[in-house]
Amino acid sequence: MTAPPSVPLPKPAQTLRFLVRPIPFMEHWRRKLGETFHASLYGPGEVVFVSSPESVKAIFSRDRVNTIAGGRNIILGPLLGPGSLLLQEGQEHMRRRKLMLPPFHGERMRAYETVIAQATERAVERWPVAEPFAMHPSMQAITLEVILRAVFGVEDADRRDELSRALVEILGATASPTTVGLITPGVRRLPIYRRFDRLRARADELLYAEIDERRRDGDLDGREDILSMLVAARFEDGSTMSNEELRDQLMTLLLAGHETTATALAWTFDLLLHRRDALARLCEELEVDEHTYLEAVVDESLRVRPVVPFTGRKLLEAAELGGYELLRGTTVLAAIYLTNTRPEAYPDPYSFRPERFLEDAPDTYSWIPFGGGTRRCIGAAFAQLEMRVAIETILRSVELRAASPEPERPVRRNVTLSPANGTVVVLERRR
Ligand code: HEM
Repeated sequence: MTAPPSVPLPKPAQTLRFLVRPIPFMEHWRRKLGETFHASLYGPGEVVFVSSPESVKAIFSRDRVNTIAGGRNIILGPLLGPGSLLLQEGQEHMRRRKLMLPPFHGERMRAYETVIAQATERAVERWPVAEPFAMHPSMQAITLEVILRAVFGVEDADRRDELSRALVEILGATASPTTVGLITPGVRRLPIYRRFDRLRARADELLYAEIDERRRDGDLDGREDILSMLVAARFEDGSTMSNEELRDQLMTLLLAGHETTATALAWTFDLLLHRRDALARLCEELEVDEHTYLEAVVDESLRVRPVVPFTGRKLLEAAELGGYELLRGTTVLAAIYLTNTRPEAYPDPYSFRPERFLEDAPDTYSWIPFGGGTRRCIGAAFAQLEMRVAIETILRSVELRAASPEPERPVRRNVTLSPANGTVVVLERRR
């Protein structure tokens, strides 16, 4: 067996192209080299991109053997902390995942419908009429409020505002690539990192106050929020999560669930408002309380604009993928975007056509916006419900049109692919 074909460019050129425009990079080299190809990148090192369902299945089903790609800890460690589910490995990861999955179970999510609808109504009230505005910041406000209420359980509006400010500041401060320096002791003395420490201390103070309050609450069973369930949950040996770990998981759920869902909503509106027939059909079905098309809209949006376009694993054992031999130590990137747009699975793959999901559920390894294996997104049902309720609430309240006939261009924002101008729309009239 041979090694996969390599991108024939000098390392700096490969790195730059992948960093700046990951989608054209991945598409171009898939077209030239096939579904399994090798790139040499500063940072992750020797990387193999895979996208066929067979390879994706093979890599996700080896999650208990391999580890997450190295860069994740470096970039996210200082913010999320060592307990974070996103950063844990092996047995420790599985122990925590077992504890954290039940509160995110699909059926349980219905408890949050009202919270989502209320947060959406509040955002929509602030929109101007007849002048262009970007939807993305509004979607961020909705998903932040939803996390603070549904996950953190903060009911008091003033406390929520205070926490929002502190969390938005720290997320903003960690959004740039310079954050990588956070763990380098020498660099940490620079003012930018002292600011990070200050912001983190402030956010932690507020998070620990919430955790303390929940611990003192005598009626945790009567509460719906996920933090209460995590406080009450027990590991197999009967122990509970420490306050430090609860803090790390709250920060993780915020980071993993806030920007991702907001961006997915912004993309869905960009797609819908440029397909007026799909929008009309959706509105007609919502009129008669039919939600099948809405579900298809959400799934198709996540297919064609996957917010997280790839996810990495480091091989701890040599493996065979796509007919090639990969050495131990190779980083494999499951190219979510490429998998979701394979013409073999989706005719006319770049078109937004919710109809394709009306008959058949998508195949497990051909539709992977939430990743797979034992690291698959635990918030998938939460995100899909949140998207459905927010879209329905918006379409019932206002009539929107796209401000430009051109759809948005994807740009990279941290680990997500985001609409370049934030989905600029015009509110034509309130219903
Ligand atoms: C549209 C919205 C979302 C997208 C596209 C998304 C995508 C993903 C992906 C691709 C992964 C897998 C990463 C990997 O392979 O290692 C992941 C993991 C994760 N997601 Fe999401 N996510 C979304 C919303 C959420 C929400 C709402 C939450 C929680 C409130 C959440 C919490 C998590 C957590 C905790 C993990 C780590 C799971 C583990 O390592 O065991 N996500 N997400």
